[in-house]
Amino acid sequence: MLKLRQTILLAMLSLAGTAQAAQPVWISLGEQGYQLLRKLDAGIKSQESRKLAPNSALAKGEADETVHLVAVDEALLPRLSDAIHENLRHCGGFIVHPSLQEARASLRGPAAALATLAPSYAIDNQATVNKLLPQLQDSNILGTIQSLSGYQNRFYTTSHGVNASNWIASQWKQLAGSRSDVTVEQFSHASWPQKSVILTIKGTDNAAETLVLGGHLDSTVGNGTGENSRAPGADDDASGVASLTEVARVLLASNYQPRRTIKFMAYAAEEVGLRGSSDIAKRFKQQQVKVVGALQLDMTNYQGDAQDIFLFTDYTNAAQNTFLANLAKAYLPNLKVGYSQCGYACSDHASWHAQGYPASFPFESSFDKSNPYIHSSSDTLASSGNQARHALKFSQLALAYAVELGSDGPAAKASKVAELR
Ligand code: BES
Ligand code: ZN
Repeated sequence: MLKLRQTILLAMLSLAGTAQAAQPVWISLGEQGYQLLRKLDAGIKSQESRKLAPNSALAKGEADETVHLVAVDEALLPRLSDAIHENLRHCGGFIVHPSLQEARASLRGPAAALATLAPSYAIDNQATVNKLLPQLQDSNILGTIQSLSGYQNRFYTTSHGVNASNWIASQWKQLAGSRSDVTVEQFSHASWPQKSVILTIKGTDNAAETLVLGGHLDSTVGNGTGENSRAPGADDDASGVASLTEVARVLLASNYQPRRTIKFMAYAAEEVGLRGSSDIAKRFKQQQVKVVGALQLDMTNYQGDAQDIFLFTDYTNAAQNTFLANLAKAYLPNLKVGYSQCGYACSDHASWHAQGYPASFPFESSFDKSNPYIHSSSDTLASSGNQARHALKFSQLALAYAVELGSDGPAAKASKVAELR
């Protein structure tokens, strides 16, 4: 009996031999991407589709987007990616889901927000923010970009990608020093070797409420990236990780103790469908972690426009975006803020947004004028002028965000208020 089952299993495996490379996966993508996909394979049909709710923050005249859920042959994904790149002027444009169930959940839109107390977004920590801002230095950001872009590549499956994660962990551990309220861990992912890195500063009296400041540590040169590919990813996204590292350095060096918990994250595997951040955001949601806000820094060092910081309005939270604009006005009055959008789930903020957490994405330029060298061997520091002055502005905004949101204590509980009556 056992023998028979083994034989059947072997026969099935050998039948699946060719199909193994052609496994169906669930992806979601917008209307234009869907039409391109149907050109590649006319037999493909949308399993489910959903018109996104009109987003009041969308720029005027922007069409509402329909999102489709489709099962496709995994082997088709690189061709789809190329087609989207060529025809729609962007690179990914679809999200790969681990299962049909998760694909459906994602299509239903951001899960109902957790029952956290809405943050107040008050700006009332001028003394601390103004003391710390001048300590942020572009020379440190430059150094981190130099080190990270010095890896052959930081792709999620290569030895270099693993080493780069380990390097960030060791740098962040040095920043943490011997503080017992600060930890650095590497978050392992089940399906690939590159780990995400998380530095946590535990809140003093409102520790359950958490802020997340993240960027992605991986890099790519697109289809076919492997061990020997040269993918410096200086702007995408060594710059974001470097901007965040400088914020962590200043907060820790000054012995800043937040009332809420602050987590810095360097995500693995962003370039292959936001997979690292998606794992983490789902885990946090499952464990009912109260994330009061998530800030994404992905590409901070290439100034493509007259304005300095662009707040992306899609897959983000409008109230938190307004808070960021107000922070910039209060603390960085010389900076000009603009608004733009990707039009698709282009970076890790979308992973937090999908789990119902307020997310924001301040970016280096408008979408149309962003760094043309990303995903190529020319995404080097030289392409951003061998300086990190633009990236410094993002550290400044992120530091103001961390301190203003991190310094809030617990709101009075309804039951306590009732008791006092
Ligand atoms: N940093 C980019 C996102 C980006 C590029 C934002 C250009 C704005 C302008 C990110 O690393 C990326 O490449 N994202 C992918 C999509 C992701 C789901 C694989 C992309 O944009 O193609
Ligand atoms: Zn990228």
